[in-house]
Amino acid sequence: MEVLRANDDVRRRATQARQAGETIGLVPTMGFLHAGHRALIERARAENGRVAVSVFVNPTQFGPTEDFARYPRDEDRDLALCQEAGVDWVYAPSVEELYPHGQPGTLVTPPEGLTTSLCGEFRPGHFTGVATVVAKLFALWGPDRAYFGLKDFQQTAVLRRMAADLCFPVALVLAPTIRETDGLALSSRNIYLDPAERQAALAIPRALQAGWEQARVAGSRPSAVLEAAARHLTGMQVQYLSLVDRDSLEPATDLGRPAVLAIAAYSGKTRLIDNVALDGPAPLALAASAQEGVA
Ligand code: PAJ
Repeated sequence: MEVLRANDDVRRRATQARQAGETIGLVPTMGFLHAGHRALIERARAENGRVAVSVFVNPTQFGPTEDFARYPRDEDRDLALCQEAGVDWVYAPSVEELYPHGQPGTLVTPPEGLTTSLCGEFRPGHFTGVATVVAKLFALWGPDRAYFGLKDFQQTAVLRRMAADLCFPVALVLAPTIRETDGLALSSRNIYLDPAERQAALAIPRALQAGWEQARVAGSRPSAVLEAAARHLTGMQVQYLSLVDRDSLEPATDLGRPAVLAIAAYSGKTRLIDNVALDGPAPLALAASAQEGVA
């Protein structure tokens, strides 16, 4: 495994791989890797000749009052995980390498319809930062496939649209959310939670489960799904609890079309997000089957 810091080295390796007829799978991350990232890396490993993982805490996607400076970082541990997972290249540039003319530079702004709801409402500029840095990664690596987690559902919608609008010849592979056995979605930010906050955070997957179950009751309306979920969140500071159309991200008006139930809430000072597709597997059943898989 090679660790690359310079964009010229990235271009050289990517060109060599392409000339050798190998496909490139790219897994963009901000590091502090966990089993959710690892699942994306393993999928990329299975589907491509070469696998690149980027580790870059991207300043342009953090708001001025957000946690850029204290975002968890542990490069040695990240490199060990990548090595073990059979990664070919870890690309871990400095901020100056990726933004040589300073920040923010030329920006990629996603269409408003995808960024006004859910996290977009509370994190102005966030998805512009995400779309910009991922466009840069696509331009540098020219990957055949790029891997993203549905844990960040709105991000996947924004990036799908960005890749299509900017004509990047890359297939986006979207992978299911990996959870702890008790249902909590894995996140690099879970490290911020003390034991009591971690326990309180379980209200989020329980709320998603309750909404998912309610959607299966004949004749259920979106309001009933939202109410069933809300009952579990009474002790939390909720930023949003929304049921949106999977493709347009507009509020779901009936359950006849694919819809996603999404939550952002604070446990202590830590902001957590999670979601479930109402036509997909149950969030807590998924956690249970993950447990069986380990046993
Ligand atoms: P980061 O939060 O490090 O996540 C990197 C990738 O891992 C994202 O595609 C995210 O959806 C996925 N991921 C995180 N937790 C997951 C889980 N529990 N199960 C499955 N996948 C999970 O998302 C970002 O970084 C950044 O915004 C990035 C795309 C790298 C741009 O800077």
